[in-house]
Amino acid sequence: MALPEALRQAVAAVAADLPPHDLSALSARLSAAYRGGTPPPRLTPDLAAAYAAVRLPATFAAAQAALSQLRNRLPDWHPTSTVDVGAGPGTAVWAAAAVWPEISRATLLEREEAMVALGQRLRPPVPRTEWVQADLRTAWRADPADLVMASYVLGEVEDAANLVARLWGLTTGALVLIEPGTPAGFQRIRAARAHLVALGAHIAAPCPHGGDCPMAGGDWCHFAERVERSAAHRRAKGGALGYEDEKFSFVAAARLEPVPSAGRVLRHPQVRRGHVLLQACTPDGLQRLTRTRSDGERYRAARDLRWGSELR
Ligand SMILES: C[S@@+](CC[C@H](N)C(=O)[O-])C[C@H]1O[C@@H](n2cnc3c(N)ncnc32)[C@H](O)[C@@H]1O
Repeated sequence: MALPEALRQAVAAVAADLPPHDLSALSARLSAAYRGGTPPPRLTPDLAAAYAAVRLPATFAAAQAALSQLRNRLPDWHPTSTVDVGAGPGTAVWAAAAVWPEISRATLLEREEAMVALGQRLRPPVPRTEWVQADLRTAWRADPADLVMASYVLGEVEDAANLVARLWGLTTGALVLIEPGTPAGFQRIRAARAHLVALGAHIAAPCPHGGDCPMAGGDWCHFAERVERSAAHRRAKGGALGYEDEKFSFVAAARLEPVPSAGRVLRHPQVRRGHVLLQACTPDGLQRLTRTRSDGERYRAARDLRWGSELR
């Protein structure tokens, strides 16, 4: 997945302001912090710039994929307003605007001054954009919005359950929560999902149903997006690979009932001679499916499915 051209250029300009060795050291600090589960304590302008260069493309790809799944389950829903909490440099708002260009009002709530300044420099493509520098642990307020998002944030707050309930209260259409695609990230999503169901939400994505999550036995529901690495990113990571795979878990909860889904593909489909093997979450639970030539159109459709696709 590639960034929108305006964002790609803006991020490249931010990265160009940092000497390569600084970007490399800053990127290593960010990676170590996120790997260790302890986000950087205070984000300096340089760390924020490094976040834009090395993490934003990946979190953008995850957000765009999650929001696209939501759009496919709510095809007649057209959000025009959004609230993004723990917005960082506004990544999720950029993704939301790519999925629903009709979004005309965005409120971005972020604790770190450096992130707010960076986000203002990147300028999300939404006509009315308000940045609010606030800490989610203290008093904060935002007007209700059609689409509410918290992308890669739940793991950074102490009382995620309370935050989820507050965010749902602000949501007039759909709430999207995204976390790293790790067992710990998935557990946070799973807990939030159960909480939202108890609050009366419809689960629109990735799940094809609103019943109990059937994932068990140490497995975790996650998806992956391939992300192109910019030249600055390759220099920062000192690697030759032109891409990386961002793994993420998420849930999208909606006020409207989503269109029915046959299921969600949970692993890379295995395309063999004359048949395709699929692992999917379906309204009847987790299933291993085989589509063979004798399935006709369903077999042909299965050959085009990918990890994260809606089952056809
Ligand atoms: C991993 S970054 C994610 C940024 C962005 N949402 C994205 O997807 O790229 C987490 C962001 O949440 C912000 N954050 C963490 N705790 C917060 C809090 N208590 N109040 C407000 N923002 C917070 C951090 O400053 C950081 O910008």
